[in-house]
Amino acid sequence: MIDINTTYRFNFPIPIRFGAGVVKELSGYLKENNLKNPLIVTDKNVAELSFFKQICKDLGKDGIAVEVYSEMHKNPIKSDVLEGGAQYHETNRDCIVGIGGGVALDVARAIALRVNHTRDLFDYDDLIGGDKYVTEEVPPFVCIPTTAGTGSEVGRSAIISEDISKKKRILFSPKLMADIVFADPILTMELPPFITAATGMDALTHNMEAYLAKGFHPMCDGIALEGIQLISESLELATNRPTVESRAKMLLASLMGAVAFQKGLGIVHSLAHPLSSLLDTHHGLANAVNLPYGMQFNYEGFEDRFDKMALAFGLGTNAGKRIIDHLFSMNKQLGLPTKLSEIGVKKEHIEELSILAVADFCHPSNPKPVSKEDFKNVYQKAL
Ligand SMILES: NC(=O)c1ccc[n+]([C@@H]2O[C@H](COP(=O)([O-])OP(=O)(O)OC[C@H]3O[C@@H](n4cnc5c(N)ncnc54)[C@H](O)[C@@H]3O)[C@@H](O)[C@H]2O)c1
Ligand SMILES: [Fe+2]
Repeated sequence: MIDINTTYRFNFPIPIRFGAGVVKELSGYLKENNLKNPLIVTDKNVAELSFFKQICKDLGKDGIAVEVYSEMHKNPIKSDVLEGGAQYHETNRDCIVGIGGGVALDVARAIALRVNHTRDLFDYDDLIGGDKYVTEEVPPFVCIPTTAGTGSEVGRSAIISEDISKKKRILFSPKLMADIVFADPILTMELPPFITAATGMDALTHNMEAYLAKGFHPMCDGIALEGIQLISESLELATNRPTVESRAKMLLASLMGAVAFQKGLGIVHSLAHPLSSLLDTHHGLANAVNLPYGMQFNYEGFEDRFDKMALAFGLGTNAGKRIIDHLFSMNKQLGLPTKLSEIGVKKEHIEELSILAVADFCHPSNPKPVSKEDFKNVYQKAL
């Protein structure tokens, strides 16, 4: 509800070039901005894909001296970022271009921070007020997403884990926003079905959790509902019978989810993060499995919000309760697991998972409070 005695800050992001073929504008953009020595940050898989090689080749033809950094873990860690920062300086770079999924883009953003910020990387952790140390210049930074899930390209944060404990830390500053995003659905055409499905469910989780999150942000709410509708129309198609149109809709919905979740996330992301820390589970997959259970937890007391989401899902009026079954069916249709036991979680993991979940940074914005006991119960149900 609007509180007329309060004032609000609404932040919206960055220039986005969207559409089939926009990646070809990269070289012109760099030249216009007098940038000739990009550090291209990607992961090892993407570095081998033909579209990536083509991007590097095109840049080379235009006289741009490409240097690639691709050393990163599946759930990226601090030393990945430090190495990339060192390579930036050793090879005299003048900007950073992140190309890839959320992992590559988060590492690229963290390297952009690292370049001129020399304190311990986790001194910049947002949860301990680290953004106050982000005072130096951040190099020019371009993002090119190649998955449709995290929406990291329009974000201002990077999620990087500690080297040993694997605890996820969040580096945040408005200065870490990309200068421009080239969102080209053609780059996502070859995503395998499993990654399409898992990353797509991450985008759905962002839109749903943002819509339900505490706080007043009707702009984010509107974007989140439209994002849910786009995913509803296109995720199954993009996964099982991809077309440029379904890929384009998913890419948009993932950008929209990330714009919307500046409002906050919730219980599902807090259930999911510990699975990546403890068992190295892919972020989207961890969200996909937990999503119906987290929404079940949230339903009571928020029926009107669920009814509105049900309209976006195309489930009809007063159908909020049906969303939970619908999410289970979506996972099945997409070939994703519906139980934690199917992704290696065992009863004896639940205590440690619950400790990590309650310490996670996402659930404070969940519409209802979540205790450690609640996390245990939800994990047990999902097992
Ligand atoms: N910064 C943020 O706002 C934010 C938000 C949510 C999640 N995240 C982070 O994002 C990460 C997850 O990102 P993700 O889900 O995109 O996964 P990812 O980056 O790990 O990509 C998944 C897999 O797909 C491959 N891949 C990427 N593009 C491809 C393409 N076009 N064709 C074929 N294969 C391709 C990658 O090599 C990788 O193996 C996690 O580390 C998570 O913490 C960040
Ligand atoms: Fe996510």
